[in-house]
Amino acid sequence: MDSRNIRLAVIPGDGIGTEVVAEGLKVLDAVGAKVEGTHYDLGAERYHRTGETLPDAVLDELRGYDAILLGAVGDPSVPPGVLERDLLLRLRFELDHYVNLRPVKLFPGVETPLGKARPEDIDMIVVREGTESLYAGAGGVLRRGTPHEVATQESLNTAFGVERVVRYAFDQALARPRKKLTLVHKTNVLTYAGDLWARTVDRVGLEYPDVRTDYCHIDAASMFFVNQPERFDVIVTDNLFGDIITDIGAAVAGGIGLAASGNVNPDRTAPSMFEPVHGSAPDIAGQGKADPTATILSVAMLLSHLGLADEAARVERAVADDLLERQAGRAARSTREIGDAITARVAG
Ligand code: NAI
Ligand code: MG
Repeated sequence: MDSRNIRLAVIPGDGIGTEVVAEGLKVLDAVGAKVEGTHYDLGAERYHRTGETLPDAVLDELRGYDAILLGAVGDPSVPPGVLERDLLLRLRFELDHYVNLRPVKLFPGVETPLGKARPEDIDMIVVREGTESLYAGAGGVLRRGTPHEVATQESLNTAFGVERVVRYAFDQALARPRKKLTLVHKTNVLTYAGDLWARTVDRVGLEYPDVRTDYCHIDAASMFFVNQPERFDVIVTDNLFGDIITDIGAAVAGGIGLAASGNVNPDRTAPSMFEPVHGSAPDIAGQGKADPTATILSVAMLLSHLGLADEAARVERAVADDLLERQAGRAARSTREIGDAITARVAG
């Protein structure tokens, strides 16, 4: 079989999800990958029509693909949490996406709110744990809606879960020129979980003598993302901290329209899922205003995960060239115009 054959499950989702995914698929086609794609209508519309979020039969089918490309899910008409928990988080948990990979990279020519920062100052990868911590759904509520309500939400951290993501992060660091790994946590207050994370980094680190390790509290890290982003190379962190800090990362690296991510199952026991960091953006949905670049960069991550490094590099280069030209004072382009321009560069 041609290794460039990709069996791809496509979940466009809601709002701008459908618009940006269409552009991502064009790029995938142009790079020469033979994509056997199947679209799955999951999201708000399906939920309203049938009450379903992620039927078991669909989940089973999804397990058979090489990868999943997701746009975004969520709509104001659906109660908060329904699609996020029962569709998105369920996919991440069931498919064991224990690495949530989020590059934070300032491309040349892209404007950053950090006036003086140069591209070489903002070039890091955040390895966010994807299946544990406060997102594990442990907790409950008592006497809801009364003045005596009790709500708990516990952070679950297992030695197994922490070690596997830490090992992944060390491997990432080893493969990069600076070879630096920073643990971001809050060990001074979250003493039980923080201790497990810190000990795990110390112990696994013995096997990676070439990787320099460092530690940073989450609050300080938030500040350093803004005033000293050059401190960071690879970051490994807990699910919630990683979620928050990568929004700061997206902001300093040119905005949410450029931020890509992968929900990765490194053991390849199930397909990994690639998606822009942003949501369905109901405020601009249907207007052709969404920037598809984050999705196209997520497609590059997808190609790289499937071993198509050259193709991934071509897509990244096309995006980099397009971003450079964007700054040359051109008029704002539509979702499709940006997608077409990048597709043409990939094909050419
Ligand atoms: P959002 O990311 O959808 O939008 C935040 C702001 O960024 C909006 O002003 C939006 O117009 C802008 N924006 C987002 N993506 C853009 C793009 N590609 N180009 C240009 N501008 C862009 O986050 P928000 O508003 O908090 O959530 C909207 C819905 O999306 C909610 O239902 C939320 O739960 C869901 N959501 C889903 C995610 C996912 O599917 N992974 C992730 C985040 C939110
Ligand atoms: Mg988030």
